[in-house]
Amino acid sequence: MRRRQFLIGTAAVAAAALARWRAATAAESDTIQFPSDFVWGASTSAYQIEGAVSADGRGPSIWDVFSHTPGKVLNGDTGDVACDHYNRYREDIALLAGAGFKAYRFSIAWPRVIPAGTGAVNEAGLDFYDRLVDTLLARGVQPWACLYHWDLPQPMEARGGWLGRDVVPAFADYAQVAAKRLGDRVKHWAMLNEPNVHAIFGYGVGEMAPGLRGRDNVLAAIHHQNLAQGTAIAALRAQRPDLRLGTVLSLQPSLAASDRPEDRRAAEMWDAVWNTSCLDPLLRGAYPDLLAKDYAPLVKPGDLEAIHQPIDFLGVNYYSPMYQRADPGGLFGTGWGATPAGVGLTAMKWPIEPHGLYDQLIRLKDGYGNPEVYISENGAAFDDQVDAGGRIDDTARIEFLRRHLEMARRAVADGARLKGFFVWSLLDNFEWANGYAKRFGIVRVDYTTLQRTPKESYHWLARQMRT
Ligand code: GCO
Repeated sequence: MRRRQFLIGTAAVAAAALARWRAATAAESDTIQFPSDFVWGASTSAYQIEGAVSADGRGPSIWDVFSHTPGKVLNGDTGDVACDHYNRYREDIALLAGAGFKAYRFSIAWPRVIPAGTGAVNEAGLDFYDRLVDTLLARGVQPWACLYHWDLPQPMEARGGWLGRDVVPAFADYAQVAAKRLGDRVKHWAMLNEPNVHAIFGYGVGEMAPGLRGRDNVLAAIHHQNLAQGTAIAALRAQRPDLRLGTVLSLQPSLAASDRPEDRRAAEMWDAVWNTSCLDPLLRGAYPDLLAKDYAPLVKPGDLEAIHQPIDFLGVNYYSPMYQRADPGGLFGTGWGATPAGVGLTAMKWPIEPHGLYDQLIRLKDGYGNPEVYISENGAAFDDQVDAGGRIDDTARIEFLRRHLEMARRAVADGARLKGFFVWSLLDNFEWANGYAKRFGIVRVDYTTLQRTPKESYHWLARQMRT
């Protein structure tokens, strides 16, 4: 409509208007329109970027121990230095602001703040987040803090970690300490990052810290994280009613790898393990039917009420669907099936299927009361090439982001209360068991010099945000 009115008037005016219209259309052709209050952000996490693992009184986390255990992480990589963000945060915030990001989701390292997990508070650790937050605000970037991105203080693990209940009050205390120091400036707080992935890969199949295995471990680690999340939300809400509180889940469609009935059942079971074990107790107050009996021994009176807290927002991390097949040897009778032929893959070998993002957003809208949602992570690893001029033309990443943003826009148009998009990730970083081999950043990090170089995807996102 706005464009059409240019065409009214004298021929000369019309011709000039037409030229302007053509120029505007060309510039806009690769941009995807969102409401003007849509929150554009970038995400990172503490252990993946900070480094400085023994600076200023930080204690060890399960990821320090795991990454220093031979054979656990590709090439023996550790987070000891990572992107040295602890010392270079100003430069990283300048990159955020330079692109036009309005928000930054980072995580606070519990072992910096309360090194033993409980007890003495390390003020020097909190000072770092003070500096980070002040610098963000000075550059016009809203800080969104996540309290836990998998770096449990090792002394808590020694006391049973997420397999026991001690961690629940300890986490709520830590949340209050962090909010007391930063809550005057940080208004958005996510409790946990992907409790499902942490439980499955860290406590179930041993591919991530703390490297434990077993079906019962998965259930216990999920339940105690759910409980810690709810307990911390209630504590923070009582302490500071002005904060916006939420949590972050990894929601990926679980699809059958074939039409065989057993594969279809496997996909349903895996959906219950991966998606609804966290979603249902949080938003519906109950574990999914398929696993209710399995969770029953862990659930004490009052637990489900404690988990079923009202939240101000839900963070959704979306990467790809998961193809499942029946596998009697799998922890839940399921296993990873083959991706259908013809579907493109990222460097992680994850299928590129943007429609899955739309499906998750509509599932939340139709099945879970349409909560306020932010895509808290979306992005991809590709084998980036640096050309002779030092340019990183990561067209595949741009295409990935463009297609996912298009699905996000479609979900908004269809009524999902999606309010923002955070790209994973600002920087190439420590990709857990893959070490530094997989690069998710829109900014390249040279791990020898620690030099940062914005990739073409950074410039492309900057254009999206400008329009
Ligand atoms: C996760 C985490 C991130 C990852 C990202 C890519 O989902 O595993 O939130 O820390 O780095 O998802 O794998």
